[in-house]
Amino acid sequence: MEDAIMKTRKLRNLEVSAIGYGCMGLSHGYGSVPERIDSIRLVRQAYDFGCTFFDTAEGYGDGDNEILVGEALKPIRDKIVLATKFRVDKTEQTSTREGLLKEIQSHVDASLKRLGTDHIDLYYQHRVNKDIPVEDIAWCMGTLIHEGKILAWGQSQSTEDEIRLAHAVTPITAIQSEYSMMERMFEKDVIPTCEKLGIGFVPFSPLASGFLSGKYKADRTYTGDDVRRVITRFSKENVLANQPLLDLITNFANQKGATPAQISLAWMLHKKDFIVPIPGARKPERIQENLSAADVELTDNEFNQIEAELAKIEIQGNRTDEDIAKLRDMI
Ligand SMILES: NC(=O)c1ccc[n+]([C@@H]2O[C@H](COP(=O)([O-])OP(=O)(O)OC[C@H]3O[C@@H](n4cnc5c(N)ncnc54)[C@H](OP(=O)(O)O)[C@@H]3O)[C@@H](O)[C@H]2O)c1
Repeated sequence: MEDAIMKTRKLRNLEVSAIGYGCMGLSHGYGSVPERIDSIRLVRQAYDFGCTFFDTAEGYGDGDNEILVGEALKPIRDKIVLATKFRVDKTEQTSTREGLLKEIQSHVDASLKRLGTDHIDLYYQHRVNKDIPVEDIAWCMGTLIHEGKILAWGQSQSTEDEIRLAHAVTPITAIQSEYSMMERMFEKDVIPTCEKLGIGFVPFSPLASGFLSGKYKADRTYTGDDVRRVITRFSKENVLANQPLLDLITNFANQKGATPAQISLAWMLHKKDFIVPIPGARKPERIQENLSAADVELTDNEFNQIEAELAKIEIQGNRTDEDIAKLRDMI
């Protein structure tokens, strides 16, 4: 594997490529998965294209995703930043801090084993559990950092209050939450809070599950565990209703000699220098297209024009955990 040059950004104490690679789709969430050998090749190709920031989770494919990402990154482990995630439930054991720590230690140890590494660079709580104080989770994260098992930690889909309370106990490195031209709910308070506290922001689903590539037509059908079967953003009527957004980014793409996906990513990179999206894709040319968005520079004028046009467009449909949970009964 060769080292390619790509712009970098800081997520608090971690330096990463300006765009990362979300590995979820290699095991989970988008229907049939590639052959294992092809998945390993794709992860390595992302690095060859300049990516140094890789995202997985214990829950993707019941741990399989961590195993394959760990194997793919083994030859370059010390050159990349590896992020994974855990979930923890409220039980009798986790109702005390010590019990919670023990439980989370068992998750981190299992992830380390699957990833084949001695430390995780960035460890996110996949969803804040409303029954467990965020301060207790933050205290556990501080202990894991002290033990050297993780270098940094973060939350996913958390609120401004949850970020502030947890950050006061153990500083947070990054918040990973949904953000794209189709989902801007965190612009109001979470992103400004990250800015104030010096926390990085890592948008997941930055291409709105592919919609913003402009390559998915309204009559397309999806199978298996593909979230697009259930998220309302992909219902036929909403895909048709959201065409003005595709028209907007396609126009800009044509003007800039870029693609709609690249304009969508360049827009969020322009917004704040602590934003690092992690698009996922399973074709080398798409991975390269997405990572190359780091070289698509929007001028302030172009950015402001996009912002003004976006403000006029009312987005139909979304992507919610509740809708995605419906897949369980459909597979
Ligand atoms: N924290 C969380 O709760 C959470 C939730 C969701 C995702 N994530 C993370 O975020 C990463 C990305 O999110 P995501 O996968 O939901 O959404 P995404 O990156 O917005 O979209 C991925 C989908 O778009 C397609 N796509 C990507 N680039 C494309 C291109 N240039 N042209 C055409 N199609 C393209 C992919 O197709 P193919 O794969 O078929 O090529 C895939 O179906 C995940 O891999 C995961 O690591 C985290």
